[in-house]
Amino acid sequence: MKVTLIHGQNHKGSTYHIARMTAEKIGGAIDEFFLPRDFSAGCSGCLACLHKGREHCPHSEQFGKIFNSMLSADIIIMSSPTYVMEMTSHLKGFLEHIYTAWLAHRPEEAMFSKIAVVVSTAAGMGMGGVTKSMAKQMFYLGVAKVYRLPFRVMASDWNGVSEKIKSKIETKTNEVARKIVSRNGRAMPGIKTKFIFSMMRTFQKKNDYAPLDKAYWRNKGWLGKERPWMHRK
Ligand SMILES: Cc1cc2nc3c(=O)[nH]c(=O)nc-3n(C[C@H](O)[C@H](O)[C@H](O)COP(=O)(O)O)c2cc1C
Repeated sequence: MKVTLIHGQNHKGSTYHIARMTAEKIGGAIDEFFLPRDFSAGCSGCLACLHKGREHCPHSEQFGKIFNSMLSADIIIMSSPTYVMEMTSHLKGFLEHIYTAWLAHRPEEAMFSKIAVVVSTAAGMGMGGVTKSMAKQMFYLGVAKVYRLPFRVMASDWNGVSEKIKSKIETKTNEVARKIVSRNGRAMPGIKTKFIFSMMRTFQKKNDYAPLDKAYWRNKGWLGKERPWMHRK
């Protein structure tokens, strides 16, 4: 199995340790990225990605490496400490660059069999909202199954996390890794994905706002009977 591990932070605190231990428990090769070290831009709002293609984004080379790694991975693990009740700005900045791969635009077939794990820690509160938000991002990219790992660590770094909380983290990460391994790192999209896909298909049929999106759907055969989850390898 190949795991792409994206940290929404540069440093190796609690969030890093939990995400990394989850990747190691799943096993296989790990392709790891740290933000902002590996990608630091916010979206410039030029909409080149929407109207011309993501390769026309002024930041395409940098984020393309991370996105390509996501596409070739079996498992995507995304981590972010909770900052002011949200994911880090660096992670949000990266996600802004791949929004045209959402179900509403030009989703990638490869995403529809993938599993993601989203990890966040907070000293006190907000980590559940952050993992919910990160899971939403994965869902709209077409990822078939998302596991959430929010932890209240009551600490500002990994050394400060109590043994009791570390033992809870150990149990929960074991559980998620075991489930992923038992699924052989693959999943089928659920009813919600299929429902949103069908809504987007209706929209694409009438779409005269983003011709690139419509042409993409037509070329994939999705305006007819083809579906992105039909030809799983
Ligand atoms: C800029 C900033 C904002 C933070 N906001 C929150 C917050 O909204 N809620 C919270 O409980 N902790 C907050 N914290 C604390 C961290 O979320 C918490 O210590 C987290 O476990 C740090 O993860 P790390 O060890 O991976 O850096 C904040 C810390 C920083 C630096």
